[in-house]
Amino acid sequence: MTNTLKPPTVINPDVLIPVNPAIESYMHSLVRQTDHPVLAEMEALAEKNNFPIVGRLVGVFLETLAKTANAKRVFEFGSGYGYSAYWFAKAVGDGGQVICSEADFLNQEKAEQYLRAAGLWDRVDFRAGMAQAIFAETEGLFDICYNDVDKGDYPEIWALAKGRIRPGGLYIADNVLWRGRVAVTHFTDVFQGWTEAIMEHNHLIFNDPDFDAFINPTRDGVIVARRKTA
Ligand SMILES: C[S@@+](CC[C@H](N)C(=O)[O-])C[C@H]1O[C@@H](n2cnc3c(N)ncnc32)[C@H](O)[C@@H]1O
Repeated sequence: MTNTLKPPTVINPDVLIPVNPAIESYMHSLVRQTDHPVLAEMEALAEKNNFPIVGRLVGVFLETLAKTANAKRVFEFGSGYGYSAYWFAKAVGDGGQVICSEADFLNQEKAEQYLRAAGLWDRVDFRAGMAQAIFAETEGLFDICYNDVDKGDYPEIWALAKGRIRPGGLYIADNVLWRGRVAVTHFTDVFQGWTEAIMEHNHLIFNDPDFDAFINPTRDGVIVARRKTA
């Protein structure tokens, strides 16, 4: 008898972009292009250096979430050169604060250049170093904790952040669908263990009785978990 079972296939993650690219293009066409010109410069740099910023669709989503939660105090784990911070800084308004943490100190100078040009630098407290250590230096509750560090650290960041989010506040993390790797059994990973770490992270969040969660599949998947108020 012929064995009809196929050998396991290695999934090319490029075929698993969560939202069909044509649909993402359509959504892009709807997004206002009236933001500060510095944003296009930040996007061009990401394109040139293949640097993983969240991009405009997720940026608009982050700003909308932050405004909806009336966020005034945001902590970012993994800020790059300030692209996602741009959206949070816009949302928190005058008197609001976004604490950024970034392992690569070379990104701090770029962030200052861009966010100063956008008139947002006075709302940003940008610190170079490991996000975990910088977060430990802070006190009090945050309206939003946003996680975009190396994916192997996702469960650790969730564990650190969850108790420091005010009731009604949000935990947000990017890349939680990881080009669909979380949904298949055979895949090539960027670094060993990252997919498993993201899956553990997502499982922990959806099973936490203190949070309500959902995933927006835009770009690479953004998880949003709201701390319950009672
Ligand atoms: C995906 S990029 C962040 C992009 C940024 N959130 C944006 O959309 O503009 C991840 C960044 O996190 C930094 N990073 C990774 N692990 C980190 C950690 N444990 N602490 C601080 N920064 C970290 C990397 O150097 C990199 O710049």
